[in-house]
Amino acid sequence: MSDSTRQIVTIDGPAGVGKSTVSRGLAHILGFTYLDTGAMYRAIAYGCHSRGCDVSNGDEVAQLLPAFSISLRAPDKPDDDVRVYLNNKEISAFIRTPEMGSLASQVSAHGPVRSLLTSLQQEIGCKGKIVAEGRDTGTVVFPYAAWKFYLDATPENRAQRRVKQLRENGEEADEQNILSMIKQRDTDDKERSLAPLKPAQDAVYIDSTTITAAQVITLMLSYISL
Ligand code: DC
Repeated sequence: MSDSTRQIVTIDGPAGVGKSTVSRGLAHILGFTYLDTGAMYRAIAYGCHSRGCDVSNGDEVAQLLPAFSISLRAPDKPDDDVRVYLNNKEISAFIRTPEMGSLASQVSAHGPVRSLLTSLQQEIGCKGKIVAEGRDTGTVVFPYAAWKFYLDATPENRAQRRVKQLRENGEEADEQNILSMIKQRDTDDKERSLAPLKPAQDAVYIDSTTITAAQVITLMLSYISL
Protein backbone atom coordinates (compact mmCIF):
# COMPACT_ATOMS: atom_id res chain seq x y z
CA MET A 1 0.00 0.00 0.00
CA SER A 2 1.44 3.36 -1.05
CA ASP A 3 1.97 6.20 1.43
CA SER A 4 -0.57 8.37 -0.42
CA THR A 5 -3.28 5.71 -0.07
CA ARG A 6 -2.68 5.76 3.67
CA GLN A 7 -3.16 9.55 3.85
CA ILE A 8 -6.38 9.11 5.79
CA VAL A 9 -7.41 10.69 9.09
CA THR A 10 -10.04 8.78 11.06
CA ILE A 11 -12.07 10.46 13.81
CA ASP A 12 -14.33 8.14 15.78
CA GLY A 13 -16.34 8.84 18.89
CA PRO A 14 -19.80 8.93 20.44
CA ALA A 15 -22.82 11.02 19.42
CA GLY A 16 -22.63 14.77 19.91
CA VAL A 17 -18.92 14.96 20.66
CA GLY A 18 -18.20 17.49 17.89
CA LYS A 19 -16.73 15.10 15.33
CA SER A 20 -18.38 16.86 12.39
CA THR A 21 -17.09 20.34 13.24
CA VAL A 22 -13.59 19.04 13.88
CA SER A 23 -13.55 16.76 10.81
CA ARG A 24 -14.80 19.49 8.49
CA GLY A 25 -12.28 21.99 9.85
CA LEU A 26 -9.38 19.55 9.65
CA ALA A 27 -10.32 18.46 6.10
CA HIS A 28 -10.41 22.11 5.04
CA ILE A 29 -6.95 22.84 6.49
CA LEU A 30 -5.39 19.68 5.02
CA GLY A 31 -7.15 20.01 1.64
CA PHE A 32 -8.64 16.53 2.13
CA THR A 33 -12.18 15.31 1.37
CA TYR A 34 -14.49 15.07 4.37
CA LEU A 35 -16.33 11.75 4.63
CA ASP A 36 -19.33 11.76 6.98
CA THR A 37 -20.06 8.03 7.41
CA GLY A 38 -22.89 8.68 9.90
CA ALA A 39 -24.79 10.52 7.16
CA MET A 40 -24.85 7.27 5.18
CA TYR A 41 -26.36 5.32 8.10
CA ARG A 42 -28.88 8.13 8.53
CA ALA A 43 -29.79 7.90 4.82
CA ILE A 44 -30.51 4.16 5.13
CA ALA A 45 -32.53 4.80 8.31
CA TYR A 46 -34.54 7.50 6.55
CA GLY A 47 -35.15 5.27 3.51
CA CYS A 48 -36.33 2.37 5.68
CA HIS A 49 -38.44 4.49 8.03
CA SER A 50 -40.17 6.41 5.23
CA ARG A 51 -41.16 3.09 3.64
CA GLY A 52 -42.76 1.92 6.88
CA CYS A 53 -40.06 -0.64 7.66
CA ASP A 54 -39.29 -1.67 11.25
CA VAL A 55 -35.63 -0.60 11.47
CA SER A 56 -34.93 -3.04 14.29
CA ASN A 57 -35.84 -5.96 12.01
CA GLY A 58 -32.66 -7.00 10.16
CA ASP A 59 -34.49 -9.08 7.53
CA GLU A 60 -36.89 -6.27 6.63
CA VAL A 61 -34.03 -3.78 6.37
CA ALA A 62 -31.88 -6.17 4.29
CA GLN A 63 -34.72 -6.66 1.79
CA LEU A 64 -34.89 -2.92 1.15
CA LEU A 65 -31.15 -2.34 0.69
CA PRO A 66 -30.96 -3.18 -3.06
CA ALA A 67 -33.49 -0.38 -3.70
CA PHE A 68 -31.19 2.28 -2.23
CA SER A 69 -28.47 4.31 -3.87
CA ILE A 70 -26.73 6.84 -1.63
CA SER A 71 -24.54 9.74 -2.67
CA LEU A 72 -22.90 12.57 -0.75
CA ARG A 73 -22.09 15.99 -2.15
CA ALA A 74 -20.08 18.86 -0.74
CA PRO A 75 -22.26 21.62 0.75
CA ASP A 76 -22.47 25.09 -0.82
CA LYS A 77 -20.90 26.66 2.29
CA PRO A 78 -17.86 24.92 3.85
CA ASP A 79 -19.31 25.01 7.40
CA ASP A 80 -22.58 23.32 6.42
CA ASP A 81 -23.31 19.61 6.71
CA VAL A 82 -22.61 17.40 3.74
CA ARG A 83 -25.56 17.07 1.32
CA VAL A 84 -27.11 13.62 1.26
CA TYR A 85 -29.05 12.03 -1.60
CA LEU A 86 -31.09 8.85 -1.56
CA ASN A 87 -32.00 7.58 -5.02
CA ASN A 88 -31.04 11.01 -6.43
CA LYS A 89 -33.46 12.85 -4.12
CA GLU A 90 -31.95 15.24 -1.58
CA ILE A 91 -32.83 14.18 1.98
CA SER A 92 -30.33 16.39 3.88
CA ALA A 93 -33.06 18.35 5.67
CA PHE A 94 -34.68 15.23 7.14
CA ILE A 95 -31.80 13.21 8.50
CA ARG A 96 -30.11 15.42 11.12
CA THR A 97 -32.71 15.06 13.89
CA PRO A 98 -31.97 13.21 17.16
CA GLU A 99 -34.75 10.73 16.26
CA MET A 100 -33.09 9.90 12.93
CA GLY A 101 -29.82 9.46 14.84
CA SER A 102 -31.46 6.81 17.01
CA LEU A 103 -32.97 5.06 13.97
CA ALA A 104 -29.55 5.19 12.26
CA SER A 105 -28.01 3.55 15.31
CA GLN A 106 -30.58 0.73 15.07
CA VAL A 107 -30.05 0.06 11.34
CA SER A 108 -26.29 0.20 11.86
CA ALA A 109 -26.40 -2.97 13.97
CA HIS A 110 -27.42 -5.11 10.95
CA GLY A 111 -24.63 -6.93 9.09
CA PRO A 112 -25.88 -6.29 5.52
CA VAL A 113 -26.11 -2.54 6.21
CA ARG A 114 -22.57 -2.44 7.59
CA SER A 115 -21.11 -4.46 4.67
CA LEU A 116 -22.80 -2.24 2.10
CA LEU A 117 -21.72 1.04 3.69
CA THR A 118 -18.22 -0.13 4.62
CA SER A 119 -17.59 -1.04 0.94
CA LEU A 120 -18.96 2.31 -0.24
CA GLN A 121 -16.78 4.18 2.26
CA GLN A 122 -13.68 2.20 1.25
CA GLU A 123 -14.38 2.97 -2.39
CA ILE A 124 -14.63 6.70 -1.62
CA GLY A 125 -11.40 6.59 0.42
CA CYS A 126 -9.35 4.32 -1.82
CA LYS A 127 -7.13 7.12 -3.16
CA GLY A 128 -6.42 8.61 0.28
CA LYS A 129 -6.62 12.30 1.25
CA ILE A 130 -9.74 11.72 3.33
CA VAL A 131 -10.88 12.79 6.79
CA ALA A 132 -13.42 10.13 7.77
CA GLU A 133 -15.63 10.44 10.83
CA GLY A 134 -17.87 7.84 12.41
CA ARG A 135 -17.80 4.96 14.87
CA ASP A 136 -15.61 2.36 13.15
CA THR A 137 -13.53 4.31 10.63
CA GLY A 138 -10.25 3.60 12.47
CA THR A 139 -11.08 0.06 13.55
CA VAL A 140 -12.86 -1.44 10.50
CA VAL A 141 -13.20 0.86 7.47
CA PHE A 142 -9.65 2.23 7.23
CA PRO A 143 -7.53 0.17 9.64
CA TYR A 144 -4.42 1.18 7.66
CA ALA A 145 -5.11 4.95 8.08
CA ALA A 146 -1.99 6.96 8.91
CA TRP A 147 -3.65 9.09 11.60
CA LYS A 148 -6.39 7.90 13.94
CA PHE A 149 -8.19 9.82 16.67
CA TYR A 150 -10.87 8.94 19.19
CA LEU A 151 -12.79 11.99 20.38
CA ASP A 152 -14.67 11.74 23.66
CA ALA A 153 -16.59 13.95 26.14
CA THR A 154 -19.01 13.32 29.00
CA PRO A 155 -22.64 12.56 28.02
CA GLU A 156 -23.78 15.67 29.94
CA ASN A 157 -21.40 17.92 28.03
CA ARG A 158 -22.47 16.40 24.70
CA ALA A 159 -26.16 16.85 25.55
CA GLN A 160 -25.57 20.53 26.41
CA ARG A 161 -23.79 21.10 23.09
CA ARG A 162 -26.54 19.36 21.11
CA VAL A 163 -29.24 21.45 22.85
CA LYS A 164 -27.33 24.66 22.07
CA GLN A 165 -26.93 23.60 18.42
CA LEU A 166 -30.64 22.74 18.03
CA ARG A 167 -31.75 26.00 19.69
CA GLU A 168 -29.39 28.00 17.46
CA ASN A 169 -31.19 26.41 14.50
CA GLY A 170 -34.50 27.60 15.96
CA GLU A 171 -35.56 24.10 17.05
CA GLU A 172 -36.99 23.10 20.41
CA ALA A 173 -34.81 20.92 22.61
CA ASP A 174 -35.39 19.25 25.96
CA GLU A 175 -32.04 18.66 27.65
CA GLN A 176 -33.10 15.64 29.74
CA ASN A 177 -34.64 13.99 26.71
CA ILE A 178 -31.51 14.63 24.60
CA LEU A 179 -29.29 13.32 27.42
CA SER A 180 -31.21 10.08 27.69
CA MET A 181 -31.13 9.62 23.89
CA ILE A 182 -27.37 10.20 23.90
CA LYS A 183 -26.85 7.66 26.69
CA GLN A 184 -29.04 5.12 24.90
CA ARG A 185 -27.11 5.66 21.65
CA ASP A 186 -23.78 5.25 23.51
CA THR A 187 -24.97 1.91 24.87
CA ASP A 188 -26.30 0.73 21.49
CA ASP A 189 -23.21 1.84 19.53
CA LYS A 190 -20.72 0.44 22.07
CA GLU A 191 -22.45 -2.84 22.83
CA ARG A 192 -23.45 -4.07 19.38
CA SER A 193 -21.59 -7.14 18.21
CA LEU A 194 -20.58 -5.78 14.77
CA ALA A 195 -17.98 -3.00 14.58
CA PRO A 196 -18.81 -1.57 18.02
CA LEU A 197 -17.72 1.94 18.90
CA LYS A 198 -14.30 1.75 20.56
CA PRO A 199 -10.94 3.43 20.11
CA ALA A 200 -8.61 1.73 17.60
CA GLN A 201 -5.56 0.37 19.42
CA ASP A 202 -3.38 2.91 17.63
CA ALA A 203 -5.76 5.89 17.99
CA VAL A 204 -4.88 9.06 19.88
CA TYR A 205 -7.55 9.56 22.58
CA ILE A 206 -8.74 13.16 23.00
CA ASP A 207 -11.16 14.28 25.71
CA SER A 208 -12.87 17.41 24.39
CA THR A 209 -15.03 18.08 27.45
CA THR A 210 -13.14 21.23 28.41
CA ILE A 211 -11.52 22.28 25.13
CA THR A 212 -12.90 23.95 22.01
CA ALA A 213 -13.16 22.47 18.52
CA ALA A 214 -10.36 24.81 17.38
CA GLN A 215 -8.11 23.48 20.17
CA VAL A 216 -8.95 19.88 19.21
CA ILE A 217 -7.99 20.63 15.59
CA THR A 218 -4.69 22.21 16.66
CA LEU A 219 -3.93 19.17 18.80
CA MET A 220 -4.73 16.78 15.93
CA LEU A 221 -2.56 18.78 13.51
CA SER A 222 0.38 18.34 15.88
CA TYR A 223 0.25 14.58 15.15
CA ILE A 224 -0.15 14.89 11.36
CA SER A 225 2.79 15.29 9.00
CA LEU A 226 2.17 15.38 5.24
O1 DC B 1 -22.42 10.19 13.54
P1 DC B 1 -23.92 10.11 13.49
O2 DC B 1 -24.57 10.60 14.75
O3 DC B 1 -24.47 10.79 12.28
O4 DC B 1 -24.26 8.53 13.35
C1 DC B 1 -25.57 8.03 13.41
C2 DC B 1 -25.52 6.56 13.79
O5 DC B 1 -24.98 5.81 12.71
C3 DC B 1 -24.67 6.19 14.99
O6 DC B 1 -25.38 6.27 16.22
C4 DC B 1 -24.24 4.78 14.69
C5 DC B 1 -24.21 4.72 13.19
N1 DC B 1 -22.85 4.79 12.66
C6 DC B 1 -22.11 3.64 12.64
O7 DC B 1 -22.57 2.61 13.13
N2 DC B 1 -20.87 3.63 12.10
C7 DC B 1 -20.35 4.75 11.59
N3 DC B 1 -19.11 4.70 11.04
C8 DC B 1 -21.07 5.96 11.62
C9 DC B 1 -22.33 5.97 12.19
